[in-house]
Amino acid sequence: MLMATRPPASAPATSAVPLVDLHAQYLTIRAEVDAAIAEVIQTSSFIRGPRVEEFERAFAGAIGVEHCISCGNGTDALYIVMHALGLRPGDEVITTAHSWIATSETITQAGGAVVFCDTDADTFTIDAERIEALITPRTVGIIPVHLYGQPADLDKILAIADRHGLWVIEDCAQAHLATYKGRMVGSFGVAGTFSFYPGKNLGAMGDAGAIVTNDTALARRMAMFARHGGVTKGDHQIEGINSRLDGLQAAVLTVKLKHLPVWTKARQAIAAQYSELLSTCEDLITPNIRPGSSHVFHHYVVCHEKRDALAAHLMQRGVQTAINYPVALPFLPAYARLAHSPHDFPVAHRHQSQILSLPIFPEITQAQIKHVVDAVQSFGRRRQRKAWEGDARAVRPR
Ligand SMILES: Cc1ncc(COP(=O)(O)O)c(C=O)c1O
Repeated sequence: MLMATRPPASAPATSAVPLVDLHAQYLTIRAEVDAAIAEVIQTSSFIRGPRVEEFERAFAGAIGVEHCISCGNGTDALYIVMHALGLRPGDEVITTAHSWIATSETITQAGGAVVFCDTDADTFTIDAERIEALITPRTVGIIPVHLYGQPADLDKILAIADRHGLWVIEDCAQAHLATYKGRMVGSFGVAGTFSFYPGKNLGAMGDAGAIVTNDTALARRMAMFARHGGVTKGDHQIEGINSRLDGLQAAVLTVKLKHLPVWTKARQAIAAQYSELLSTCEDLITPNIRPGSSHVFHHYVVCHEKRDALAAHLMQRGVQTAINYPVALPFLPAYARLAHSPHDFPVAHRHQSQILSLPIFPEITQAQIKHVVDAVQSFGRRRQRKAWEGDARAVRPR
């Protein structure tokens, strides 16, 4: 999970360039956000109410689907869909080896069995070519993750799902407004799940999440399950859970949603600028964009064989970085029971020691971008100098 807070002004040695600066974003929309929050407080519509309904309508419209069911967070969103789809003990769900643990832990919570699939070397998303070999008579669904804001290989994944009668849930927690062949992610599978964790491209001021779908019957089951088994107070058709978006978060999200297209373009422009300026850095691999997709750069992730040295070098120069994620899911202690080895997921295993997320947020300044680029470039020069010094020592006469 990324750092989503800004250190207090009094904190010593703050980063020259933070990974994310949520306060900078708040300052650009302060009047709108403050007014929206004040209205919720004045009307005391804290749980559901008009602001929640307004946000659900607006978000469904933004993704281009019929229904949006808001809930407490992006983890609940995944759990609610799988529960509503009727996952049974032993049902197998295939998902990517490279994601945040919410993607896989919810499969287990919903009663299923997690089956990991390795990732594509160029995009970090699930390797669609490897999915079919993992399908068994117990397989019921596939959860691709649009990781870092990059759409997964949806055409291939949906074709496999069709051939084998499987459902697809898109984990869109990092990919608000990303498109695949001109359509918003979240609108392809039986459902798409979103997180509005504060640091996400569309972030609340606390936990929040949503599910989108075009399936009306599924939407109703999910809404009921998330709200104690009934959408009308006192009318409990089934036993459910309590996972609700609150009025304050909905009001903040509705304000922010209006700005999201502009923020998304800003992220894409920053990423393009980084990729151009860093293209000459030896040994550094900048992100690829899948043809026909738009990548919304929740994270800007580079690869370097000397990742830890690069991260330390950047930290010394005041550039905050993150590793999303340091251990691929199959190798976490939480999945020791599956007894996987690096050979099972060579790509995800290689990436876990090479990936590094550089600062990216819509409000980053040109001076901050230059600072990051200079710091990365100086790492390359320092390594070159060290290599030359090594060579010079090697040829030094005795
Ligand atoms: C890929 C992915 N899926 C699911 C989640 C879960 O979202 P939340 O933190 O809102 O529960 C996250 C959050 O970081 C995520 O990155």
